[in-house]
Amino acid sequence: MRQHVNPLSKNFDEIERIPSFIEMFDDPKLPLHLDIGCAAGEFLFDLALANTNWNYLGIEIRQRLVKTAKLKVKEREIKNLYFIFGNANKILNDFQSTFITKNVTSISFNFPDPWFKKRHYKRRVIQPEFINMLSNSMLKGSLIFIKTDVKDLFNYMDYTILSNFNFKKIDKKDFSYSESFNPNKFETNREKYVVVNKLDIFENIYIKI
Ligand SMILES: C[S@@+](CC[C@H](N)C(=O)[O-])C[C@H]1O[C@@H](n2cnc3c(N)ncnc32)[C@H](O)[C@@H]1O
Repeated sequence: MRQHVNPLSKNFDEIERIPSFIEMFDDPKLPLHLDIGCAAGEFLFDLALANTNWNYLGIEIRQRLVKTAKLKVKEREIKNLYFIFGNANKILNDFQSTFITKNVTSISFNFPDPWFKKRHYKRRVIQPEFINMLSNSMLKGSLIFIKTDVKDLFNYMDYTILSNFNFKKIDKKDFSYSESFNPNKFETNREKYVVVNKLDIFENIYIKI
C-alpha cells in the first residue's frame, strides 16, 4: 500500500457526505475527540473500547484503511467510533463539517507526514489557514495535541499554531491526562515504533482561549 498520498491531488477535491453525530454515535452528547491522519485507526479502537464515555472520530486520506476500519467498527458493534475518508483540510473546511469543529473537545495530530522537501511543505496537514479556521470554530477551552519524532516539523507546527493568538500552549506538567481523551496514555502505532527505536518524541498541547 502507498505510504504517502499527495493531499493536494484532485482525487481529494470531492468529499463524501458527512453524517450527523446521531448517525455516527450512539450517544452524540459525549465529549468528542478528533484524530487527524489516523491511518488504520488502531489507536482510536484502543481508545473507544477503553473509554466508552467519549466519542472518537478519525479522518484519514488513505481510502483502503478507512474502509477496513469502518468494517471493523461494524463487526465489533462499537458505538462511539467513526471514520471519515479524505483530506482533513478539505473535509473540515467544508460547510457540512462546521458542526464537527464547533463541537470537538480535542483534536490530535499524531506523527503527521513530515514532507521533508521545502516545495512539499504545502502538503503538510497543519497550515496557517487551517489553524485559522479551527480557531474561528473551536470552542474556548478545547484542545489541540501535536506529537512527532521530526524536530523540524515540530517547530513548524508549534510556530504555526502559536502564530494564531487564539491558541496558547499548556504546560504538560499542569495537564490532567486522566480527564483527557486518552487517560491511559495509549500509544499510536508510529509512537510504538519510535519508543522501541528510542527516537525522540516532541509534543505539545494548546488550548483555545
Ligand atoms: C505517519 S502516519 C501516522 C499515523 C498515526 N497517526 C500514528 O501516529 O501511527 C500519517 C498519516 O496521516 C495521513 N494523512 C496525511 N495527510 C493527511 C490529510 N491531509 N488528511 C488526512 N490524513 C492525512 C497519512 O495517510 C497517514 O496515514
